Amino acid sequence: MRGPLRVIRYATVTSTQDVARRLAAAGAEEGTVVLADAQTAGRGRWGRRWHSPRGGGLWFSLILRPRTRTGGRFDPAAGQLSLVVAVAVARGLERAVGADLPIRLKWPNDLLAGGGKVAGILLEREPRSGAVVAGVGVNVSFPGGPPRDLPGAVDLVTALGRPVDREDILPPLLAALAEGYGAWRSEGFEPFRREWLGRFPWLHQPVTVAVGEEVVTGRAADLDEEGRLVLLLPDGSRRVLAAGEVAWRCPSPTSILFLSSSRPAGAHKADSPGQ
Ligand code: BTN
Repeated sequence: MRGPLRVIRYATVTSTQDVARRLAAAGAEEGTVVLADAQTAGRGRWGRRWHSPRGGGLWFSLILRPRTRTGGRFDPAAGQLSLVVAVAVARGLERAVGADLPIRLKWPNDLLAGGGKVAGILLEREPRSGAVVAGVGVNVSFPGGPPRDLPGAVDLVTALGRPVDREDILPPLLAALAEGYGAWRSEGFEPFRREWLGRFPWLHQPVTVAVGEEVVTGRAADLDEEGRLVLLLPDGSRRVLAAGEVAWRCPSPTSILFLSSSRPAGAHKADSPGQ
């Protein structure tokens, strides 16, 4: 990515992913950011709805054009990039609000703070150009507080217990994304893998992971070089999980209870919890 990110701002869009994908297909440069004050059809992973009220958060999509080391097109499903983006957003948020709100990560790329999910990341590939569109949603201040139909969601204002201006958060967040992406391209995944593990509260703890229809229980042992989660199963064998929808059983009663319902890829449930 050359130079600073270029932000294109909209009042309302269906989804910044849609706009960014159209721009990417039309040749928009890497580093173009589509930001909206509100989304009418914001989406999350697994076809979930992403609640994006006007002024309630930062809703944006960043166009990336990563190449593999051999010059080929990059497959975002190969987990590294989504975890790199998660670490970068975590760094950016901590820089923006100060060290009093440590950001934790839930595999693969949910950002947790103050007892809930404060931000989520959605990577999509634009098939015509091969660009990757990294969608970032940060819940900053829901009008009227976190909606009841989104158990597990929290906004930054609630997590911090003080007002936050989303306009102050955007610059450090975008800077952290640009830096993180550049560092991944030049230094590789290993520093991000280590930082990701440091932010993962469930390391070496029992977890329940639901991948599609299947439920796997084991101890979260590691994150591999592709960003896959390595589980140690009760029979002593290892199971490596790539992309999938996950549900966690928390390591202790004091831990964040945060469950995402599992469903097969492509299924849609508009009122699903878990933003
Ligand atoms: C998730 O946790 O399920 C991912 C949520 C991603 C939400 C962001 S908001 C900006 C961009 N536009 C969308 O429609 N989704 C992403």
